[in-house]
Amino acid sequence: GKGGHRHFMAKEIAEQPSVISDVLGHYTKTGTRIDMPAELPDFAQIDRLILVACGTAFYACQTAKYWFEQLTGLPVDIDIASEFRYRSPPIGPRTAALFVSQSGETADTLAALRYCAGKADHILSICNVPQSSIARESTVALPTLAGVEIGVASTKAFTCQLTVLALLALHAARQRGHCDDATLAEHLTALRGLPGLLNLALGQEAEIETVSRELAEARDILFLGRGAMYPIALEGALKLKEISYIHAEGYASGELKHGPIALVDPAVPVIVFAPTDPLFDKTVSNMQEVMARQGKVLLVSDATGLDTAGPGSWATIQMPHVSPFLAPILYAIPAQLLAYHTAVAKGTDVDQPRNLAKSVTVE
Ligand code: F6R
Repeated sequence: GKGGHRHFMAKEIAEQPSVISDVLGHYTKTGTRIDMPAELPDFAQIDRLILVACGTAFYACQTAKYWFEQLTGLPVDIDIASEFRYRSPPIGPRTAALFVSQSGETADTLAALRYCAGKADHILSICNVPQSSIARESTVALPTLAGVEIGVASTKAFTCQLTVLALLALHAARQRGHCDDATLAEHLTALRGLPGLLNLALGQEAEIETVSRELAEARDILFLGRGAMYPIALEGALKLKEISYIHAEGYASGELKHGPIALVDPAVPVIVFAPTDPLFDKTVSNMQEVMARQGKVLLVSDATGLDTAGPGSWATIQMPHVSPFLAPILYAIPAQLLAYHTAVAKGTDVDQPRNLAKSVTVE
């Protein structure tokens, strides 16, 4: 059942602190170390990592690229499966290919996996359904442990994918010796605090619901983010399109002035995901470019960020302070809740959006 919630999507959003605790428990059984299956490659022997997926799972890969590059120094290629598989990409030696899928049955992702089999040294997967084709056909399958996801729009599976990817990046970083132990320990400690932070973010639901009633009037909505918040902007736009049918696009904040800013006018809300991190000031100046053109900015940031940049914006949503490393996982919550409450305000079918299926087994 829906556990007292109006929709499966609401239930699955609310479950995130608990399922992410499960993920952390599973992959850090011994307490201070990350436990990964022994069959995983030694990442010190890998020269290239390829991450392939579709839709929301692809945005998890796009986020993970930032983590793997920074923490492990490994070159990381990411691609959507339907492009990757038909491009005949060269796969050199010492390559690990990782496929991310909630269902484990997505036809394009499975075909991309089969393309890499026999070419890449290692075929890895991160799936929510352990018996799925993608999990079965990979040499190592890391479970996301999100539990059954019924809402067509992926929510808890996404943040669980991100958490597994973050843990895998830390594991690989330790093997490659690219990052000092103190930093790795700091990140692992931060991960342990994630369920508590997610609960605090969920506590902003009433404010998000209020602003969503106004977003429901919009015809177009833009999402902005920089660094690892860029894929979260893309995810926010995808989620909103899927369930509210409002046209939405996500852009890298710095790319706005290269074209999309032409769309900005008082009727287009611009949602900015901007935790205080080393890129904060850059994002704020992009936000000011929007405000100078009478754009309606909804700023999602922490108390410090809202103090500095909140004045002059149309609306704000306050997130707890979080390390830049974990910000993308935390800010997925307001992205999901904004889409959910906008759709509820519009009266669309949140759990069964038109034209969409939970598992896309056609190419
Ligand atoms: C978005 C969504 C889709 C899926 C995509 C991949 O909310 O649900 O974009 O993420 O179809 O599906 P999986 O993860 O099952 O391979």
